[in-house]
Amino acid sequence: MEQPRSLDVPGLVFGGDYNPEQWPEEKWREDVRLMNLAGVNLVTVGVFSWGRLEPREGVFDFEWLDRVLDLLHAHGIKADLATATASPPAWLVRAHPEMLPVDAFGTRLEFGSRQSYCPSSPVWREQSVRLCRMMATRYKDHPALAMWHVSNEYGDELSRCWCPTSAQAFRKWLQVRYRTIDALNEAWGTCVWSQIYASFEQIEPPRATPGPGNPSQRLDFERFSSDALVQLFDDEAAVLREVTPGVPVTTNFMGVCPGVDYWELAAREDIVSNDAYPDPADDDSGFGAGFGYSFMRSAKRGPWLLLESAPSAVNWRDVNVPKTTARRRLDAMQAIAHGSEGVMYFQWRQARQGAEQHHSAMVGHRGEASRTFHDTRSLGAELAALADVRGTTVHAEAAMIVDWDSWWASSALESLPSQRLAWAEQARRWHQAAAMLGVAVDIVRAEGPFDPYRVVLIPGLYLATPAQAAALTRFVETGGTLLVGGFSGVVDETETVHSGGPPGPLRNLLGVEIDEPWPLSDGATGAVELDDAAFATHLWHESIVAAAGTAVLARYRGGPLDGRPALTEHACGQGQARYLSCVLDDAGLSTVLQAALARAGVVVREAPSRVEVVTRTDGQADYTFWLNHSEQEQTLDTPAGAIDVLRGIPLASSTTVAAMDVLIARSPIRSEGSQ
Ligand code: GAL
Repeated sequence: MEQPRSLDVPGLVFGGDYNPEQWPEEKWREDVRLMNLAGVNLVTVGVFSWGRLEPREGVFDFEWLDRVLDLLHAHGIKADLATATASPPAWLVRAHPEMLPVDAFGTRLEFGSRQSYCPSSPVWREQSVRLCRMMATRYKDHPALAMWHVSNEYGDELSRCWCPTSAQAFRKWLQVRYRTIDALNEAWGTCVWSQIYASFEQIEPPRATPGPGNPSQRLDFERFSSDALVQLFDDEAAVLREVTPGVPVTTNFMGVCPGVDYWELAAREDIVSNDAYPDPADDDSGFGAGFGYSFMRSAKRGPWLLLESAPSAVNWRDVNVPKTTARRRLDAMQAIAHGSEGVMYFQWRQARQGAEQHHSAMVGHRGEASRTFHDTRSLGAELAALADVRGTTVHAEAAMIVDWDSWWASSALESLPSQRLAWAEQARRWHQAAAMLGVAVDIVRAEGPFDPYRVVLIPGLYLATPAQAAALTRFVETGGTLLVGGFSGVVDETETVHSGGPPGPLRNLLGVEIDEPWPLSDGATGAVELDDAAFATHLWHESIVAAAGTAVLARYRGGPLDGRPALTEHACGQGQARYLSCVLDDAGLSTVLQAALARAGVVVREAPSRVEVVTRTDGQADYTFWLNHSEQEQTLDTPAGAIDVLRGIPLASSTTVAAMDVLIARSPIRSEGSQ
């Protein structure tokens, strides 16, 4: 396989989105001066610049961008240069109004925001590739060019379109998938509610309907829509690789997000990049961001970059709480801890006009005097001191499955046992529980590979296939430990319930059958008894039957399932597969996770409450980050011979870290199994 191209910026990357077209040219000199002061070495330019680059069809104005790139280069700053295709210009939309997207109710979404295009529009595809080629050709030899930035956050404002062009493309996509209308009718179960189609021409995307729609149709529409966005990336990436074969190509992700199958996009990128906007008003939001970071690190099993984050407040929540200086620093260091090549922000200079005028920036409205710039400068200095961390990696013995097909299948449904059991929320909780135990978790596809790991975690896999079950069985048979959460193995890839019910193809591996899901009503709680301790449950129970030979590790206490199995273990070859049929409170989840990790021989690193521990290593030295997400000072045990990297001083065996502070220690690598 072709080697991905790497980002040629020395040390840790530091910078943000730079939109010079929003400012008079005199400001640009001030910008680069401040960038130099802060140690900025990479800026993302041109994301939304099409309207300025081509104000009328065929009339171009690239000179201003030439001058921006020259200025950046003269000041030693590299560019993550966008192909400028994140938003069409007005002339294009007015010439081709049919390229505007349409929602599920048939309303065409007007021009006046961004991402105003139907992903399946042939006009959009042709025009965006045309602009991409012009950008690539013009700037291919520019010394500031360090990376290509294709589009922006695919699947953000626009992830689905229900217009007639999309409908036609959807029909074509279905024809390729099913070949005959009979095969489609069978896969979609169209004999239910008289939905049988006589031809592909009769099929429409799942628009708003009087009652609940067909789940299989919805799932296929999710797949089709994701493919359409991936195709847009492919179109541009092909041009960039032809014209500038040595320049890495990225497109920015939004954590683990449902709009596009990120496994597919990541496979096509050179560098995975991510945008993370944890809410400072939510104490747990940093852990949510951490889930995204684990995905980024795993998506290509290589370097990734935090391409956007907020220096302080965003503008798109109902209430936008600013970040304290400490929180901003902690967020930045957390991304570095999880393997990011640097920290970048949206955006460099706070806008005075347009939709983002109240969004914070690295330089606030008060310019050099603003608090955010002051913090930008000090963070830049600290990141410079961490340059050696670049290129080091996080090693994980545990993995968690993230599968878009399964996610879409369970969330595109209007009729479920409970709308409250959201896969993403449970996955985030499992990841947070592992993070609080100091255990790094890689993210893997449902098909594996699982062999690098001792334990595989599945918070939920609603859609499971026989091939996935076979791969998981091989993993367990050869000594792996598996922990599977409830409502797994329910449907196959056509969204048909597996014969005999859940856990379908996982039945033999888990040694259980699910007789009935037993969701809890809002606010209700239950209890589970595990090793003489009781833990509270909420949202979800299942009535399960353990096969002969399957051990029951925990039982429901009280309620209609009193005494029935809640957590089971089934030995299989040299390993074991556990099934957790309920949603536990945080303490219970942590206990179950810790037991599964211990069973697998994964060392848990005890740290004070809400202190996240992550280690990056280069095989000789470990860089351990203790991220104190709590509001209290915490005392830590640090490894022998450790140096405080930021302060350059040796550390005692016990060190305190202030509230919302971080400690980064360099030490000789940990031997296997040591703390
Ligand atoms: C991102 C987007 C940026 C900016 C930012 C504001 O989703 O990529 O362009 O809008 O949000 O938080």
